[in-house]
Amino acid sequence: MNSNSTDSSPDIVAVLPAAGVGSRMRTDRPKQYLTIGSKTVIEHTIFSLLQHPKIQRIVVVISPEDKLFSALPVAQDPRISTVVGGEQRADSVLAGLQHVGNASWVLVHDASRPCLHLDDLNRLLDIINVSKVGGLLAVPVRDTIKCVSVGMAPVLHTVERENLWHALTPQLFPFKLLLFCLSHALNSGITVTDEASALEYCHYHPVLVSGRSDNIKVTYPEDLALAEFHITRLHSY
Ligand code: C5P
Repeated sequence: MNSNSTDSSPDIVAVLPAAGVGSRMRTDRPKQYLTIGSKTVIEHTIFSLLQHPKIQRIVVVISPEDKLFSALPVAQDPRISTVVGGEQRADSVLAGLQHVGNASWVLVHDASRPCLHLDDLNRLLDIINVSKVGGLLAVPVRDTIKCVSVGMAPVLHTVERENLWHALTPQLFPFKLLLFCLSHALNSGITVTDEASALEYCHYHPVLVSGRSDNIKVTYPEDLALAEFHITRLHSY
């Protein structure tokens, strides 16, 4: 619980995986260090979390070669600490969790998702009142989905999309539960591309919170202009 004895709200720590190299961006630096307006992508992401009074601490997971994060003004913020990540995103998240120390809940958010809206963050945090397992932001699949045998092979069939959702971040879980499930899944050799799948592997069922589709992950060069567009509009509605 929060160290402030007059405040009974749960202690929430954010973990920000930022140790990827972003090879799909084809740029000279990892995508989280590209700029949108006067700030880098990762600064926009950090500020989107710190705008919520319940997020008092953020563990930023960086790569062993990272020389850029410590040069950002935000690195001096006392609410921010850093730890070195691993080969896969899940390894980085685990390193972040191991650095958290103690918390009731942990919120994991990709450094490369700078357009998080406060309404989405609020609705995700509300699940603390209704769930002991936690949950994630997600958006319904809107395009028709095709299945192939491998790569660019011809279409085998169309997948029924009615009950399909895109998993986004942030994802919010009880700290000890996520630490246990992620460690267990990784030790079992399971491919873990988001936190929820680690819980699913351990037979828990995270809650889906319908989120905004503008919470995009900057992955391809063309995503940067789109992220800039969304960030410019974020504060106007
Ligand atoms: O590669 P992808 O877009 O799925 O990465 C999502 C987030 O995970 C990014 O913020 C990236 O920096 C982070 N990541 C990480 N450690 C890795 C790979 C990715 O922290 N080994």
